[in-house]
Amino acid sequence: MTDTPLKNLAIIMDGNGRWAKQHGLKRTKGHEKGAEVIRDITTYCAKHPTIETATFYAFSTENWKRPKLEVEFLMKMLDRYLKEELDTYQAYGIRFQAIGDLTRFSHALQKRILKTQELTKENSNLIQLLALNYGGRAEITAAVNKLISEGKKSVTEKDISLALQTPYSDIDLLIRTSGEERISNFLLWQLSYSELYFTPTLWPDFNARELNEIIENYTQRIRRFGGV
Ligand code: IPE
Ligand code: IPE
Ligand code: MG
Repeated sequence: MTDTPLKNLAIIMDGNGRWAKQHGLKRTKGHEKGAEVIRDITTYCAKHPTIETATFYAFSTENWKRPKLEVEFLMKMLDRYLKEELDTYQAYGIRFQAIGDLTRFSHALQKRILKTQELTKENSNLIQLLALNYGGRAEITAAVNKLISEGKKSVTEKDISLALQTPYSDIDLLIRTSGEERISNFLLWQLSYSELYFTPTLWPDFNARELNEIIENYTQRIRRFGGV
């Protein structure tokens, strides 16, 4: 049995494009279906007795390399998602928080993100973190620069953990969909002792039933953290 209950869950939502291709649709349709899945998984997490945070990789610092139209679509979809999601956040007691460098987003989108954070900040069943223009290396670099600007000459692991954007320092379980088995610059610091789970399911086909099975698998694992 696992030594630690599942508190901090992270998900690399991958495979929207391949799902669309399989169904003879444009990539954007895969992203639309994927957004619905985020809603289902988030409400499952809010109802789960031990999960405190769920962090979803929605847009990486490398995703700007994609065609301009796809990037624009993702930005519009994010704005719509946050607008439509407000009722769900309030109904399920979910606090929304963004991580990543938001300064590259349009003024309107930044406003939507900050407003959603403000309106949900008292909710306490779950923190849903969306990683937006997020990169693990960028996050660590920003944390170290912050500490330097505060006058630190040398830093401890605890200093860095506290200077990161995430409200936790350790992820318990990381899931990546679509069969790819890599981290793609997600939460590098916070994943040091995480359990990893890779499923071939494409993100638009992922659901709460499969998440439940993965959590069952997680609870059977023995986490040693370097001990015996
Ligand atoms: C994940 O699905 C969504 C984002 C990275 C925004 P992809 O768009 O990467 O889907 P595939 O990997 O091309 O199938
Ligand atoms: C990782 O998926 C980023 C997100 C899910 C937002 P990618 O599809 O961008 O990753 P690679 O390119 O396959 O590593
Ligand atoms: Mg991908």
